[in-house]
Amino acid sequence: MCGIVGYIGPQDATPIILNGLKRLEYRGYDSAGLAVLQNGCIEVRRDAGKLSRLATLVDELPVHGQVGMGHTRWATHGEPSARNAHPHLGMTGDVVVVHNGIVENFLELREELTDEGAIFKSETDTEVIVHLVERYLSAQNGLEEATRLALGHLKGAHGVVVFSAREPDKIVAARIGNAGGVVIGIGEGEMFIASDLPAILEHTRRVVFLESRQMAVVTTKGLAVKTLDGKVVPYEVHTVAWDPVSAEKGAYRHFMEKEIHEQVRSLTDTIAGRVDFDNGHGLRLPELNLTPELARRLQKIFITACGTAAHAGMVGKVLIEHIARLPVEVDIASEFRYRDPIVDQDTAVLAISQSGETADTLAAMEEARRKGAVLWSIVNAIGSQAMRVADGYISMQSGPEIGVASTKAYTAPLVDLYMLAILLADLRGTLDKAVRQRLVRDLRFVPDLAGRCLDREAEVEKVARALIHVQHCLYLGRGINMPTAYEGALKLKEISYIHAEGYPAGEMKHGPIALIDRSMPVVVIAPRDPWYEKMFSQIEQAKARGGMVIAVATDGDERIAGIADHVLWVPETPWLLSPAITVIPLQLLAYHIAALRGLDVDQPRNLAKSVTVE
Ligand code: AGP
Repeated sequence: MCGIVGYIGPQDATPIILNGLKRLEYRGYDSAGLAVLQNGCIEVRRDAGKLSRLATLVDELPVHGQVGMGHTRWATHGEPSARNAHPHLGMTGDVVVVHNGIVENFLELREELTDEGAIFKSETDTEVIVHLVERYLSAQNGLEEATRLALGHLKGAHGVVVFSAREPDKIVAARIGNAGGVVIGIGEGEMFIASDLPAILEHTRRVVFLESRQMAVVTTKGLAVKTLDGKVVPYEVHTVAWDPVSAEKGAYRHFMEKEIHEQVRSLTDTIAGRVDFDNGHGLRLPELNLTPELARRLQKIFITACGTAAHAGMVGKVLIEHIARLPVEVDIASEFRYRDPIVDQDTAVLAISQSGETADTLAAMEEARRKGAVLWSIVNAIGSQAMRVADGYISMQSGPEIGVASTKAYTAPLVDLYMLAILLADLRGTLDKAVRQRLVRDLRFVPDLAGRCLDREAEVEKVARALIHVQHCLYLGRGINMPTAYEGALKLKEISYIHAEGYPAGEMKHGPIALIDRSMPVVVIAPRDPWYEKMFSQIEQAKARGGMVIAVATDGDERIAGIADHVLWVPETPWLLSPAITVIPLQLLAYHIAALRGLDVDQPRNLAKSVTVE
């Protein structure tokens, strides 16, 4: 999720843009830049790194003007660097663009534009937008029409802001889908544009939110809002009560809650541009550099990670072994690095890391490299160490995750691992065509299934109220949802400080069942999957010993409704994708218990977002 700030008015745009970007700093980013119209020319300052780097650049090379915009980038295509940072100029230097989102069809657009003579200066998907606008700018088409025509070519979700030296009295902004909002602030003889409220609220609280497939032409006199078909539409001016800081979380009390709810978007984004649902169900993970020769040569995959990421790896084992029939071993990174693992050039070691900077995971990668393994990573923070040192990577494309308790950076890699398993099977020829089509088709429904879980937050909160004073909790899962038990328990313990333990359900009879009594609530993950009957009898065993059972169950399951004390309902989901869905009510359960206990949900005691020390 990138940050965007734009200004047009009588003031100097530069400090307004820099302060606005600072207000969006919480979103996290890896590069930043700004463009200002100075004496009729567009001046750009941009670089990789923190906002302070951009401020230094501007100090060294001042730029002043009354029209401008800035951008903080969370890279998805093209590593963080000056040339990949936004804003992006076209060939003439008269048009400049900033963008939030993913141009899913940017490869074909880039080829098309290159064939027309466009010269690309970055690896970003965004740059195709400014070349498209320039393609349409002419005596007949001003900036507004040229932008509209350009946007018509884009697939995916976008927030776009454009201005031109040829029409210095306006800025054009547009929104397509949910790639981060576009909000317009109405000042006195000046206007503000941003991806998020915090960048605007210190200037004005009168704002207009663009809806999807709307475009605004913004001048110092006000704005005109049109559909992408050019039809003028009315807009509502909202007066925002939030203060800038609370606006960073939007309508949410904590970043963790916001990020739980961002999973519809982050699951969409991690699939975006990688699966062609309409033509032949093609699947691409280009940054992994997985060749058919390598896919056939591999004898084994080690998945190594820490904490939540390790739980994702445990799901990955089931996915890759079931779909690609390739042996997978999962090893906690802090163990792998000292275990002298049996690894060679026919082994791929896949590290999973949201931050890409976790010390144990990086050390495990070094050990894998030393032993000659193929080194892969699944990472959220583009440009992080775990991405840079790998032979190939898959970006989670989930946007910054601020809350210490990882949520969207757990479900995104589950889908990435699912796609990796299919790609491996494709290249190893181990998957029946019809089965493959179904597996790819099932991906399409994941964001909606996640959204249906999130719609039930109020029901989960009720269950949280029943558990607010428990001292212990057991989480039981089996098969592909055994890791869900571990992950649900980790969420609860790390933000509510309640002792919670995830356990393989089948292991209970070998000792831990002695723990169960009325004071030991048991969360049982029992969706309709191949292990359902086993899990149902698990519920019966817990009830027979007086345990309180909270069951995660598939919509309409009357058998479980009749026996469990509480049910966290999830929609029917293909079992290979179910861990990305069954975990959501457990994320919400942990969140609400911790929030009801009045704890610091986003920064729990003793924890850090990225454990960069051993
Ligand atoms: C998860 O909620 C925790 N914050 C922690 O277990 C985390 O998953 C672990 O430290 C790994 O972090 P990484 O994904 O950034 O490597």
